[in-house]
Amino acid sequence: MLDAKTTCTVVVGAQWGDEGKGKLVDVLAERADLVVRYQGGANAGHTVVIGDKQFILRQIPSGILHQQVTCLIGNGVVVEPENLFAELDQLRERGIDTSGRLFVSDRAHLVLPYHKLLDAASERSQKLGTTGRGIGPAYEDKYGRRGIRVTDLRRLECAKDLLEDRVARANRLLEMMGSGERARLEDHVRLLERLAPRLLPLAADTGLLVHRALREGRRVLLEGAQGALLDVDHGTYPYVTSSNTTAGGAAVGAGIGPTAINGVLGVVKAYTTRVGNGPLPTEAESPFGERLRELGGEFGAVTGRPRRCGWFDATVVRYAARVNGLTGLAVTKLDVLDSFAEIPVGAAYRLDGDRCEEMPAEVEALGRVQPVYEKHRGWQQPTGTARRLADLPSGARAYLDRLEALSGVPIRYVSVGTRRDQIIEV
Ligand code: IMP
Repeated sequence: MLDAKTTCTVVVGAQWGDEGKGKLVDVLAERADLVVRYQGGANAGHTVVIGDKQFILRQIPSGILHQQVTCLIGNGVVVEPENLFAELDQLRERGIDTSGRLFVSDRAHLVLPYHKLLDAASERSQKLGTTGRGIGPAYEDKYGRRGIRVTDLRRLECAKDLLEDRVARANRLLEMMGSGERARLEDHVRLLERLAPRLLPLAADTGLLVHRALREGRRVLLEGAQGALLDVDHGTYPYVTSSNTTAGGAAVGAGIGPTAINGVLGVVKAYTTRVGNGPLPTEAESPFGERLRELGGEFGAVTGRPRRCGWFDATVVRYAARVNGLTGLAVTKLDVLDSFAEIPVGAAYRLDGDRCEEMPAEVEALGRVQPVYEKHRGWQQPTGTARRLADLPSGARAYLDRLEALSGVPIRYVSVGTRRDQIIEV
């Protein structure tokens, strides 16, 4: 992917997030000129391991770790500036120079402290298991046409007037929701005054930058956050995030037309995880779930929450392939399965006695489905040193062949460890 024919490629999660998109973007960014985040915000946690250093990036695209790459935060992202600055400082402290290589869309909306208060208050009744970063309320304001955008900081006096109205509104909502918390206008005004001088030099028409880059024949990688089953339209609603995580969202959120995109890489784990609430049909029983969690280090990169773990669910990935138009698959964390004697794979579901190959719209129905499992014999050999498919044990190759057949998408990459070099290009 990202060759002469796929100059504009999207990388998306094809499960419930945390599939290892950060690593794939890092690997692909080696041949990219631009890497663009197009949705979500500081709810994402993209982990990249280089040598003995681990980087967790929330808003800055993982491509920043390559010195030749320019990174953009697109108009579809909801930006939490203080967190962004903390990320920039962390990168600088660790020797990564970002100057002149990071731009933020002037059309992107801001996540402000009152959004986090609202997120916490609505969690008390909705219990979705959000990351608490204010993502839902920020998107609500965007679509309710009362958001505050990066460009508003250019006219600080107007932004302060907007704030007066938004903070008062947030406080009315907090009261209605029975929360004792209140947002303070003075704190928000001071925050904007502090943010503007650092954020405005990064502000740009990022859609135009992507358009120009593509016209000049440069290679552009669009970096998705979360996964297809967390998409607000296609996911397990209401247990979803508030943006379009799927490839269609990439065009809108990066500010380009859909015809510009010519490759969509779906990233999946060799098994399945989910963090937050909502159904997970192939959730593994004890002690297998715990073993997957321990071996895979399955704890949230943003919240530290233990992830729920289960077996590969082909219905999920087939669905993700369809709604994203996947042209290739990257299977990550194959090595986590190395020690299992038997590995179940959910080939389809059974719903009220009938075989079901498609994702039901109703979350309640998804909570009721019974996975139809195929049992695969484990290979019980380490895979971490494999660099070609031929280096893998035959059982692991057979497992991958089956995932490919069930998903209907060709496997292009297999990741066998956290390090940059632990990858097989097929
Ligand atoms: P929110 O995005 O914070 O509103 O959370 C909504 C749902 O999406 C919750 O179930 C979160 O756990 C989940 N979620 C949000 N971001 C991520 C992510 O980067 N990885 C995995 N799950 C996520």
